[in-house]
Amino acid sequence: MHRKKTKEITALIIAAADKARRQSGWTADAKVGKAVNWPVECTVGPGLEGAIACESKVGYVDGSKGALSYRGYDIFDLCAHSCFEEVSYLLLRGSLPTKPQLAAYRRRLNDCLNIPSTLRHLAGFRIEDMDSMAALRLGTNMMRYEIAELHVEPVSAEKVALIGSDEDSIPMETTPMGSEHAIYEFKKGSSSARNMATGCQLVSGVASLTAAIARLREGKLPIEPDSELSHAGNLLYMMTGHRPSPVEERIMDVSLILHADHGINASTFAAMVVASTLSDVYSSIGAAVGALTGPLHGGANEAVIHMLNGIGSVDNVESWYAKTQRKKERVMGMGHRVYKVYDPRARILGPLAKYLARDNPETKNQYRIATRLEKEVVASLGKKGIFPNVDFYSGMVYNALDIPHELFTPIFAVSRVSGWTARVFEYLRNNRIFRPRVMYNGPVAREYVSIGRRKPRKRG
Ligand code: SDX
Repeated sequence: MHRKKTKEITALIIAAADKARRQSGWTADAKVGKAVNWPVECTVGPGLEGAIACESKVGYVDGSKGALSYRGYDIFDLCAHSCFEEVSYLLLRGSLPTKPQLAAYRRRLNDCLNIPSTLRHLAGFRIEDMDSMAALRLGTNMMRYEIAELHVEPVSAEKVALIGSDEDSIPMETTPMGSEHAIYEFKKGSSSARNMATGCQLVSGVASLTAAIARLREGKLPIEPDSELSHAGNLLYMMTGHRPSPVEERIMDVSLILHADHGINASTFAAMVVASTLSDVYSSIGAAVGALTGPLHGGANEAVIHMLNGIGSVDNVESWYAKTQRKKERVMGMGHRVYKVYDPRARILGPLAKYLARDNPETKNQYRIATRLEKEVVASLGKKGIFPNVDFYSGMVYNALDIPHELFTPIFAVSRVSGWTARVFEYLRNNRIFRPRVMYNGPVAREYVSIGRRKPRKRG
């Protein structure tokens, strides 16, 4: 029964892919993938719109055709045939794993889900009173708090003892004499093996932190991972205490694949900027979590659910949207800085929401309202390139999986930490501290006036 249902999901993804490819006419663009001859010319707008910050092999977003690929693999193929473990390995390592490599990576990810000392420290804070992303930022920076202290000074003997006492440290990385550097510090020519170790620690650590935050918010204790479950399965299990059905696990896994990387969006760019100063990787990922906290970037899917529940019925959509337009308010989950066509991720999340709506009256109502609202928005704003983005349907999917709304954005981070880490390590290979320019348009050559002679400024 379950195999039949999970096959239905694969068929749904393949059908969405066929439809997208038919409508967008997307083909792999021959010119993509060529080395860049720096310096390059680009037209830059406010918010660095149009600026080219670096080159990358990690992932490619085609905003005009509505296509997304990771290391050259189309997102639709990865969702139909791969899993989040393979995809995060692909992003970090640059190639899909062989069977033995995947088995070893899976074991390592599962081991790294165990961060008891970090969770013990985290539980000491009033997580139930904190914003979930603030708690995740705290946990991310605490995950290797020893590193934050150590990232600039060599490890002295007592520090080695400290790291040794921290159950989360990876013993093999801190030799008995104490490594001259902490594992998570960026070192010139860091080995890809060390980067892989850091990647595992981060990919699993953020998942464990998110699950623990879900539990602590409800006044419950964190749940230890189950080594039999997949990464997506463990995320749901450690959050809810229930082992997910194969269908729930598959849908969570596809959602994690869809959110894993997306060019240098605000949170990825934040991580890269911090990393470019050679700060430690946990500060970089903590900065990314901070950027994702903003509602223009993360949190839109939570806002969409509140919006749909506020509209209440498909009969109210037209009047609600007319009022929103009169007030010149934005529709959450719509529009995108890069996609001026349908976000390919929404092309899969929409059908997944519809699939879940079959057995869930709440999701069915939300889905009916959403598809009606989508028609209204595309009819009026499609010409401006405003279409559903990844957040328009993802909230319905998570809501149907009984995930608390406040955990929607942390779950985005559970997936995107793989793209953040991959791009940070890629950029550091040819690091150059980010330092864009600013157009100064303020006053010049003003005479200094002593305080006794200053007059209050006239309100202009
Ligand atoms: C993510 O960068 C990434 O890749 C991000 C992300 C990722 O995977 O990392 O894809 C994840 O952040 C998805 C976006 C989630 N946020 C939302 O859904 C919030 C609602 N969307 C908007 O705020 C907006 O569309 C942005 C911020 C996403 C993009 O804004 P832009 O490209 O800067 O567009 P803009 O602000 O210049 O607006 C252009 C026009 C404006 O109209 P005019 O002033 O020209 O008349 O489009 C209008 C805007 O008012 N517009 C919208 C709209 N978004 C833009 N109008 C109504 N509803 C909207 N959602």
